[in-house]
Amino acid sequence: MQRAVCPGSFDPIHNGHLEVIARASSLFDEVIVAVSTNYSKSYRFSLEERLEMARHSFSALRGIVVEPMGQGLLAEYCHNRGASAIVKGLRSSSDFDYELPMATMNRQLTGVETVFVPGEASYIHLSSTMIKEVFDLGGDVSRYVPGSVLKKLQARESA
Ligand code: PNS
Repeated sequence: MQRAVCPGSFDPIHNGHLEVIARASSLFDEVIVAVSTNYSKSYRFSLEERLEMARHSFSALRGIVVEPMGQGLLAEYCHNRGASAIVKGLRSSSDFDYELPMATMNRQLTGVETVFVPGEASYIHLSSTMIKEVFDLGGDVSRYVPGSVLKKLQARESA
């Protein structure tokens, strides 16, 4: 059983994430979408909301589970969950520069490998931060997020 972890804040999850995770699931028997919490970061959506949006997005796909990652080391989490690989999408060379030291550290910590998946061209400009900003300023983000995420953004706006 080859298991991989796709970690992230997913605040909120968007179509660039979905595309990379779907491709990861074709490479591994099981993919764990691990939703992180970092208390030095401020999130728009609570952990429960981020989990719910991610679970809703993958409800039709087999072999993908969504769970909280907690606050510890990603390498330890992968070790505890029996995952041999971390899968990360790469949008640019600066993503690679940022990710390479972490991949090396994670491998040295527990032996977990990192597999990089090149992002689909139509999504490589996306980030959760950009989607929130465009939405907040009245832009149409419907082509970039699943319907359940769009509803959540709209519900938060009118609350
Ligand atoms: O979506 P994000 O916020 O970019 O996700 C970042 C994440 C969860 C992948 C990163 O913060 C992380 O790896 N956190 C775990 C803490 C850890 O292991 N730090 C050492 C990295 S070498």
